[in-house]
Amino acid sequence: MLTVDGGDLLGWRSDVRRYETLMTAVSRLSYDAVGIGDNDFVDGAQFLGGGIRKHVLPVTSANVRPALPEGDLTYPPFIIVPKDALRIGVIGLATPQSFRFISPRRRFEINIADQARALQQVLASVRKQSDLIVLLHHADMDASIEIARKFSDIDLIIGSHDQTVHKAPVREGQTLIVHTGRNGAYVGHLTLTLNKGHIDQFENRLIPLTDEIADEPIVKGVIEAYYAALRQAVEQTALLTLDGPFQGADTCIPCHEKAASQWRETPHARASQSLIDDNKQDHPECLGCHTTGYGQPGGYRNVQATNHLTSVQCEVCHRVAVTHLQKPQNTAGTVKKVSEGLCVTCHTSVQSPDFHYEEALERVRH
Ligand code: HEC
Ligand code: HEC
Ligand code: HEC
Ligand code: HEC
Repeated sequence: MLTVDGGDLLGWRSDVRRYETLMTAVSRLSYDAVGIGDNDFVDGAQFLGGGIRKHVLPVTSANVRPALPEGDLTYPPFIIVPKDALRIGVIGLATPQSFRFISPRRRFEINIADQARALQQVLASVRKQSDLIVLLHHADMDASIEIARKFSDIDLIIGSHDQTVHKAPVREGQTLIVHTGRNGAYVGHLTLTLNKGHIDQFENRLIPLTDEIADEPIVKGVIEAYYAALRQAVEQTALLTLDGPFQGADTCIPCHEKAASQWRETPHARASQSLIDDNKQDHPECLGCHTTGYGQPGGYRNVQATNHLTSVQCEVCHRVAVTHLQKPQNTAGTVKKVSEGLCVTCHTSVQSPDFHYEEALERVRH
């Protein structure tokens, strides 16, 4: 079995601790080859290079190069993987379009060469050394089809970046193209039968990574250590009370009964219950949006210590300075109008794809 990843191992938001964990996990899973995607540069070419070296990741790309001083980060344009009697040539490639949303700051850390030219340069050499040619293509499906038309001796294209799930493989001439969609929701499992060095028959399965699939014990340990470190960091931050601790709605209710009675009817007031229902009440990756002040000085830490800060309460939206509590007429530092910018820190395109500020505001204001 050949195990590969098409790129975008890392994410779209800077988070070195998380990505260090991901790279550790991937190194334990013994991938044969890993492609490079736009998200992999989220924390810079230097960080990525350090991770690849430290975890000895089998990264390959024929056309994406960090524009760093010579010798800082190099990976091969292709990898030859011997599997049983076969030699499999795996080439990494990305379309410049797939890098179009990368931040300007990161953009000039990378050089992206023309795809067709880069492929042309390596194909003859890969063909000589391998029985089967696999392209890890960080691109949309259309771009992969175009490459398959131009370079007919590629046997298999494993696409990534395209966020759509393609249940059935696409056949373009001799080339088979598969895609597994986004966010690690599926593992693609492709079984090939070869005839005279070409793909004769295939069976493609997209396996959804549901809770029914047992955790790999070592990777689970790596991830749990990461969550433990996150919890500890949050606990420490919460104990810093530079801004004064969050008070909780009970403090406001005596003076703001009208606002509070409307708030109680909104899902915000029950946001912690949703985590309890999912048995995720301690999960550091859920609490930030489902509690009050998680990750901030004086904010939510855990149910025992901060039971009064469960769910999304008043201070998430209104902030509230201590001076307001001492002298209600003083509203300096207390936010009245809640900006769309604040809502979408939680109502992201992932969590709330249908979020419309104006409409949502009507359900929230009191
Ligand atoms: C002791 C009573 C009292 C408490 C406690 C109190 N408030 Fe107020 N709050 C007031 C009064 C009175 C006003 C109106 C001030 C004015 O307009 O002169 C006000 C105004 C506000 C405003 C509007 C600010 C503006 O710029 O018009 C917000 C928002 C607010 N409070 C939120 C809160 C929140 C959240 C809490 C709890 C953390 C809280 N208040 C606690 C009495 C209180
Ligand atoms: C701290 C994170 C956070 C912020 C900030 C936030 N929300 Fe929410 N919101 C949530 C969570 C979490 C839920 C789901 C609660 C649940 O059911 O568990 C939610 C639910 C909602 C819902 C109900 C959605 C539905 O379809 O039932 C509306 C409407 C909403 N929020 C509007 C807003 C608006 C408007 C703002 C800004 C003024 C805002 N929210 C700010 C976290 C947040
Ligand atoms: C980036 C912020 C954010 C994070 C992180 C987050 N949520 Fe949410 N969650 C939301 C928002 C916003 C909604 C409301 C979605 C809507 O209806 O628009 C929501 C809704 C929900 C709901 C649906 C409530 C209902 O019954 O309708 C559940 C359950 C839930 N979240 C559980 C979780 C769990 C479990 C995690 C951690 C694995 C998590 N959330 C992480 C923001 C977040
Ligand atoms: C999800 C965000 C959110 C939460 C949580 C929230 N509010 Fe508000 N609040 C708003 C919005 C939006 C408005 C309307 C602001 C405007 O005038 O546009 C508002 C307005 C107010 C006002 C000013 C009302 C007026 O007529 O001047 C007060 C006071 C207030 N909220 C208190 C509270 C209290 C107390 C709680 C908790 C029990 C609370 N809010 C929870 C979003 C929120």
